[in-house]
Amino acid sequence: MQLFLDTANIVEIEKAASWGVIRGVTTNPSLVSREGVGDFTSLLQRICSLVDGPISAEVLAEESDAMVQEALALAAVNMEQIVIKLPLTAEALQAMHILKGKGVRTNATLVFSAPQAMLAAAAGASFVSPFVGRLDDIGHNGIATLGEIAEIFSLHGIETKIIAASIRHPQHVVEAAKAGAHIATVPLRVLQQMLLHPLTTSGIIQFQQDWAKLK
Ligand code: G3P
Repeated sequence: MQLFLDTANIVEIEKAASWGVIRGVTTNPSLVSREGVGDFTSLLQRICSLVDGPISAEVLAEESDAMVQEALALAAVNMEQIVIKLPLTAEALQAMHILKGKGVRTNATLVFSAPQAMLAAAAGASFVSPFVGRLDDIGHNGIATLGEIAEIFSLHGIETKIIAASIRHPQHVVEAAKAGAHIATVPLRVLQQMLLHPLTTSGIIQFQQDWAKLK
């Protein structure tokens, strides 16, 4: 399972990229807004220069023709890397189908059920993003939904890649991998939590102290 970084923050992307562990980036309007960035195109160009992989950029239009126009403008930033995120609506399905015909990859976002994921795949989405944490937040089982989608896609040879999104903690990443997600997109905070273990920290201190006794 690959790891993507779920952020629009350049400093965070530089940090995670330097570790050599991320293979793509996902943004959304809330994450971009948090950065206060005026020029989305420039931001996407910068992200593409830092990470060699799919970079998800979301459209805000709500009608399919407008979605396609907005998507084509974003994709023009870098046809190899930009993936267009569309929130799962009937208009978005239509746009996904049109964009596939134009060679533009799409990522169906705000996916909360297996039927929604099946529709996105049928429309030609390259990626679907089930929101694990937001399902947990309302008392559902996000990982169970993810596992259901993975089982269906595997059983029927569906090539759409599953991105486990709305990841809250390292155990979500582990469970997403076990449930069959192809990718987990994680905030930097979760990536940092994945790295840490108190026995690693104390073990390093112990090794240093023991080595120092030799001198
Ligand atoms: O980028 C989509 C998703 O990962 C958002 O997560 O934490 O806002 O539910 P969150």
